[in-house]
Amino acid sequence: MNFPFESDIYSLRTPCYLVSEKALKHNMEILLSVRKRTGCKILLAQKAFSMYAAYPMMRPYIDGTTASGLYEAKLGHEEFGGETHVFSPAYKKEDMAELLKICDDIIFNSFSQWKLHRGTVKNSGRKVSCGIRCNPLYSEIDTDIYNPCFTGSRLGVTPENFESGELDGIEGLHFHTMCEQGADVLARTVPHIEKHFGGYIKQMKWVNLGGGHHITKAGYDVDLLCRTVDSIQQKYGVQVYLEPGEACALNAGWLVTEVLDIGKNGIEFAIVDTSAACHMPDVLEMPYRPEIIGAGKEGEKKFCYRLGGPTCLAGDIIGDYAFDEPLKAGDRLVFCDMAIYSMCKNNTFNGMPLPEIYLEKLDGTTESIKRFGYEDFKRRV
Ligand SMILES: Cc1ncc(COP(=O)(O)O)c(C=O)c1O
Repeated sequence: MNFPFESDIYSLRTPCYLVSEKALKHNMEILLSVRKRTGCKILLAQKAFSMYAAYPMMRPYIDGTTASGLYEAKLGHEEFGGETHVFSPAYKKEDMAELLKICDDIIFNSFSQWKLHRGTVKNSGRKVSCGIRCNPLYSEIDTDIYNPCFTGSRLGVTPENFESGELDGIEGLHFHTMCEQGADVLARTVPHIEKHFGGYIKQMKWVNLGGGHHITKAGYDVDLLCRTVDSIQQKYGVQVYLEPGEACALNAGWLVTEVLDIGKNGIEFAIVDTSAACHMPDVLEMPYRPEIIGAGKEGEKKFCYRLGGPTCLAGDIIGDYAFDEPLKAGDRLVFCDMAIYSMCKNNTFNGMPLPEIYLEKLDGTTESIKRFGYEDFKRRV
């Protein structure tokens, strides 16, 4: 479901992200229903969404957070609470000491990492559950940059490199092989997990099925997800974890921008006060074309423009969009689905300002959560 926002976009300072608690709550309710039906645990993958002003609202619905390293782990521990998990392809010794103070689960990407850090884990004096990330040699992702199982991937231990003699102290196995996919993909992946690692899962307390589950997308087969999770938990007697990022904040935010100038070079273009490179990097990385409220594709409406950012990068192009009326300087445009993999990936290339962050609360009021300025740019360079 796509929730509309209630804020007046002309009352906001641009560029800005506007995040809706109502939309987040909708996602959280779906995730809670999966937890209730299966007994699985669900963690927010903060790499996708780490706008912690919204954490208090989200907290009652899920079990905690997962992190990609020390900073996200600290944020999850300080601002979300519940369980704090972490996975990184490799940990520094000094970071491990810090992680051991705040994490409940630490997942290692290799047996060499596990062997390097297991002494520190044992001596930490805290009960921390350790796991190994595994690569089941199966995924259905076409874009290599998002495919953790592409040939030669550094992510996860392959079956031939699994050191079954080093499992003392390991309580869980972790698999992350999906990206924006349905429960059918998970159901087809599980037999590969079982084929290569089923024998070890029997010795484990938990199995983490990673992220990439598009659980809150309209049409997602929640029943199949629940059946798949149930079958693993029953067959192996383990606790299943899911750690979606995108599904937590899907369609829960917008990026509001202002048109600065209109020009022509064969086609008409508009320069806006937001940048694909700085404020929505996945548009260039994935790549994809974000929706704009009220706009269509070229040919669908009368007035078409190529939208680009005010940076020097020739390729800082957001896409081609058609409108009912001609655009003019001062017009505001609203990009959809901008809560995820956006503000946490922002940069200040060209000295671009970081977008202000607004939160539209459940009571309908809109609050400016963070406003950035020149000092934020200067501090980083
Ligand atoms: C290990 C791991 N867990 C969870 C996620 C979250 O994935 P998504 O936001 O697609 O659900 C990712 C994304 O890259 C990941 O690498």
